[in-house]
Amino acid sequence: MKILIIGRGGREHAIAWKVAQSNLVSQVFVAPGNAGIGQQFINVPINETDNTAIVQWSKENSIDLVIIGPEAALQNGLADELIKNNIKVFGPTKAAAQIEASKEFAKELMRKYHIATADFATFSDYESAKKYLDEKGAPIVIKYDGLAAGKGVVVAMTTEEADAALRDMLLDAKFGEGKVVMEEYLEGPEFSLLTLVNGCQVVPLVIAQDHKRAFDGDEGPNTGGMGAYSPVTIIPQTAIDEAVEKIMKPVAAAMVDEGKPFCGVLYGGLMLTKNGPKVIEFNARFGDPETEVVLPKIKSDLVQHIMDVLNGRPTHVEFHDDTFLGVVLASKGYPGSYPKGLPIDGLDEVKQLVFHMGTAKKDGKWVTAGGRVLFVVGRGRTIQEAQKDAYEGVHKISSDALFYRNDIGHQAIDN
Ligand code: AMP
Ligand code: GLY
Repeated sequence: MKILIIGRGGREHAIAWKVAQSNLVSQVFVAPGNAGIGQQFINVPINETDNTAIVQWSKENSIDLVIIGPEAALQNGLADELIKNNIKVFGPTKAAAQIEASKEFAKELMRKYHIATADFATFSDYESAKKYLDEKGAPIVIKYDGLAAGKGVVVAMTTEEADAALRDMLLDAKFGEGKVVMEEYLEGPEFSLLTLVNGCQVVPLVIAQDHKRAFDGDEGPNTGGMGAYSPVTIIPQTAIDEAVEKIMKPVAAAMVDEGKPFCGVLYGGLMLTKNGPKVIEFNARFGDPETEVVLPKIKSDLVQHIMDVLNGRPTHVEFHDDTFLGVVLASKGYPGSYPKGLPIDGLDEVKQLVFHMGTAKKDGKWVTAGGRVLFVVGRGRTIQEAQKDAYEGVHKISSDALFYRNDIGHQAIDN
């Protein structure tokens, strides 16, 4: 099979790496990819959101399967266009991707089908939102309804903080015109459950835990994710089973009922509260950086699993026993603004698995080219070993332009 992966980050590098190990696969292309991806696979210089060019290129090159990474491409209806042109695709239609793109859609779906999630209300004007805040008080969670790259969520511990967020989002339209969802504050460890879905079929992968805050000790601003590990032994198997049976399977069935059948990776961002697992959010795609530790954990053939699911056949995923733990090296300034094109040294000395999130080559040398730049994956029999292995790799890399967290895995290690 010839496979085309859409996207340009660490997630797509990991998908390409895993897919290339399949006996079913002869060639792996990534559009547009990045410099690190291009060293191992074939980059195709087409943008994620250029549907016409992707369809045409896929036809001309007899692509057998397209795997879509980023939400923007899903939102832009790439899967719909591919389906129209009889090209096999793993990734949801624009209608099904609403489960990620619209928090209000996701929340209403969960309300209608009795899926455990935080209580909520949606507002488009500041006055009514403020009234609701006065009733509910703090702590309270305020989410901009739309894609804000993980930055549209404010967990407000005081009413002042909450009010400031409402003013930003509803009076100053910081992310554009839009609504906000106000949510009950939940507490407990978080985990990410990625499932391969087609209609009502739901195949769970092993869970992972992301680290959303920029700095050690879960301080600083929310980011796209600064590190991850898998498995997450602080979450008992009974809670994972409950999440699959009471959240992921009913939601997949609900999407079918709603006439928006989901095909692709349905990602549950879940919290284990004292009343069991509850949904924080859904994503309509492989998580980043969760994918970079979950795919290494898979022992069996991912392409076989995807083809099975696309054909409505049962499939059995096997996992390695080891723990995988990965650390993001990000540009100083991220998740705010940051410079690009700054040198990275020592990368060639890293023995560990490395996925490139945002690199480029300048005069034959590696330079930064994004907010999140590199992802170094450690492996070990225990999480401690995996963590040690990952940081051995990280410490080989030297760059004044980069920072990273020193405590990836802390929730599992401190417990
Ligand atoms: P989201 O973009 O919806 O995943 O939210 C980003 C982060 O905000 C989550 O990973 C949680 O840590 C936190 N968060 C979101 N919703 C809630 C909630 N209802 N209660 C507590 N924390 C939340
Ligand atoms: N790591 C969270 C996400 O992919 O949205």
